[in-house]
Amino acid sequence: MAKAKTVYICQNCGAQSPKWTGKCNSCDQWNTFVEEVVIPSAKSPALLSQNATGNKPVLLKEVNEANQVRISTMNTEFDRVLGGGLVPGSVTLIGGEPGIGKSTLLLQISQQFSGTVLYVSGEESADQIKLRANRLGKLTESLFFLAEVSTEAIVAQCKQLSPGLVIIDSIQTLRTSYIESSPGTITQIRESATQLIQYAKEYSVPIILVGHITKDGSLAGPKILEHVVDTVLQFEGDNHFMYRILRAHKNRFGSTSEIGIFEMSESGLREVTNPSEFLLFANSYQYSGISACATVEGIRPFIIEVQALVSTAVYGTPQRSATGFDTRRLNMLLAVLEKRVGFRLSSKDVFLNIAGGIKVTDTAIDLAVICAILSSDVDRPIPKGTCFSGEVGLSGEIRPAGRMEQRIAEAAKLGYRRIFVPKVKNKTSIKSDIEIIEVQKVEQVFSKLFS
Ligand code: TYD
Ligand code: MG
Repeated sequence: MAKAKTVYICQNCGAQSPKWTGKCNSCDQWNTFVEEVVIPSAKSPALLSQNATGNKPVLLKEVNEANQVRISTMNTEFDRVLGGGLVPGSVTLIGGEPGIGKSTLLLQISQQFSGTVLYVSGEESADQIKLRANRLGKLTESLFFLAEVSTEAIVAQCKQLSPGLVIIDSIQTLRTSYIESSPGTITQIRESATQLIQYAKEYSVPIILVGHITKDGSLAGPKILEHVVDTVLQFEGDNHFMYRILRAHKNRFGSTSEIGIFEMSESGLREVTNPSEFLLFANSYQYSGISACATVEGIRPFIIEVQALVSTAVYGTPQRSATGFDTRRLNMLLAVLEKRVGFRLSSKDVFLNIAGGIKVTDTAIDLAVICAILSSDVDRPIPKGTCFSGEVGLSGEIRPAGRMEQRIAEAAKLGYRRIFVPKVKNKTSIKSDIEIIEVQKVEQVFSKLFS
């Protein structure tokens, strides 16, 4: 065996250095170098079998697609985010803050899955898992549990049991004997993941890995991990709310625009198939500063509520605060309001909140944000049954967003009587009795709403 060598490895990007340095030259992060021991010539199993299995080039045309079927996890929201179910041999990484419900979600999926599941945990004992599983539902004949942290042992057990799905909670607890650094370091994670991925591809077994998240919200260890796995999912939510959102950040087998919505309850995570249900508060319309937006996440339209509070600034610098919305965008919208509607920006505090604790990425929420702010500013509630959807540009023009018809249809379905939108192209194709008010400028909206 070759002599062990000590190198310093950046835990953020994987750059190597013979000496410890405070700042990583390749990714500019501070204090990320950790000393790791590597044995250069010890071949990892991944390298060994590269020589052993001589895969031959095949004609892509003749590749049999039959084994590319999707395996349903029996969880509609999870399947939706994956793009229709698990692909055999795929490796999915699911990241999220501690306590958000990753283990709960995966245990629930294990219980629902029709097939043998091996749930490997390096964090919890069999007793703990059983206690939780009992709470989540009934235990099946096909759910196996393994408390193990050695990657080689896990792969060996998998080969013996040949399960239909393997769950690893979490990748940071694994260690492989090929590398001497401690669990959780970048080399350990990379090597363990490589071995698992190889097993998954060779035996066509889907694997779901749990990944921890660092303080700044990125997956710990892991840009490297994100490259090697097929799918990266992010489980997010606000600890003060019961709602959890599963997003795909990378998906080799589907779109990344789909989201899955869950509600954390006493008996685990409940699938939320109608998101508008938790984002609307039916009786809140007698208050000023509240507006509704027809938004689209992925291909799913739903209505969310925007709340704004505008008050006279007490201190010299007015406060701007936004929850679930980009503060810079809020500042931009306020500047547009100042220019177009004469909103006195410099003397007002503005607080903005997206109900339900969800983060919205759809820009069509701009119009609803502006209307909530205006409504709070003049202290007049927005008329009942009114909904908004449209992006606001720098000169105060209202621009269309994608899937306008779907948004209008969703608003109509939920009983809204009128919707403010930018110019809609094929208005005639929209078959609903909702009144569609087309607006082109911010100032128009203001006069139409409050005159
Ligand atoms: P967990 O799945 O352990 O989180 P993670 O694996 O992401 O760290 O989730 C733990 C939280 O979920 C815990 O704070 C309690 C809550 N919870 C419920 O509210 N209901 C339940 O049925 C379960 C199992 C957990
Ligand atoms: Mg956990």
